[in-house]
Amino acid sequence: MMKINVKAPAKINLSLDALYKRPDNYHELEMVMTTIDLADRLQLVLLEKDTIKLDVKAHFIPDDKRNLVYQAAALLKERFSIKQGVAITLDKSIPVAAGLAGGSSDAAAALKGLNQIWGLQLTLTELANLGAELGSDIPFCLYGGTALATGRGEIIKPLPMMPNCWIVLAKPSISVSTPGVYRDLRVGEVEHPNTAGMVQAIQDGSFEGICDNIGNVLETVTLAKHPEVKRIKEKMLEFGADTALMSGSGPTVFALVKQYSRAKRVYNGLRGFCEEVYLVRPWQEEK
Ligand code: C5P
Repeated sequence: MMKINVKAPAKINLSLDALYKRPDNYHELEMVMTTIDLADRLQLVLLEKDTIKLDVKAHFIPDDKRNLVYQAAALLKERFSIKQGVAITLDKSIPVAAGLAGGSSDAAAALKGLNQIWGLQLTLTELANLGAELGSDIPFCLYGGTALATGRGEIIKPLPMMPNCWIVLAKPSISVSTPGVYRDLRVGEVEHPNTAGMVQAIQDGSFEGICDNIGNVLETVTLAKHPEVKRIKEKMLEFGADTALMSGSGPTVFALVKQYSRAKRVYNGLRGFCEEVYLVRPWQEEK
C-alpha cells in the first residue's frame, strides 16, 4: 500500500500591503510571509479505485468539495486524467479561519503529496501555478520558508530564513470574512508598510529591522471592527513582546519575541484573555 505523510505549516505575514484594487477585483499585494512551526498533518493513501476520500479530524470543517484539499485532488485528477484515487486524512492543529493560511497550506501539502503518489513529476513552479487556481496563498505555502509574494499573492520570490526568535499567536474567538475585509479596505487612506525595508531586514538577518518594518494594511479594517483584536495586540506589547501584528485578514495576532523568558511571559499573560494561544518558532526545514 503506498502511503505518505505530509506536513502543512501555518504562515504569518511579517508585512502585508495592498497597493490598489485591480480590474479583476483582487488587490495588487506586496507581502512578506514566513512559515511557522505549527502544522496540520496529512496522510495520503493511494487507491486503485477512481475516487477521492477525505477524512478531516476536526469539527466544523467540510470533508467534501468545499474543502481546498478535496479541490486540489479533483483539480489534479481532472487536469491529468488520473484514473487512480486517494484517501486523505487531515489532522488539524492550525486554527481555522484565522489568517494563518491553514486551508491553503493543507491544499499545498495535498498537491505535493499527490504529485508523489500519482507519479506526476510536476515541478514546484507547475504545482504553484495549479495552486494559484484554487487560492492566492497556496503558491507561497508550496514554497514555504520566507518569501516576498506579489501580484495577487501568487508571484513568489524566496528570501533567506527568518532569524530565530519566539512567536506567540493568539486567536480571539471571532470570525472575519477575508473578502469582507478587503472590501472595506481604503487603500488610498491608510498608512502603507515599508515592504522594501522588510525585505532588506530579512536579507540582513536583522530581528530589529523586522520589528521596525512590520505592518499590515488590513489591520485598519479588522482592528477598527473588532476592538478585542486591538486589545490582544496591546496586551502582547505590554507583556514584553518586541513587536506584535495581526496576520492576514485576522483575527489572529502574533508577537515576535527574541528572549524565551519574555515570550513565556507574553504566552502566559495572553492565556488569561484568549482561549487559543500558541508559543512556536519559525519553521525549520526537516533534515
Ligand atoms: O484567492 P483567495 O480565494 O484566497 O482570496 C479570497 C478573497 O480575498 C478574494 O475573494 C478577495 O476578496 C480577497 N483578495 C483580494 N486580493 C488578493 C487576494 C485576495 O482582494 N490579492
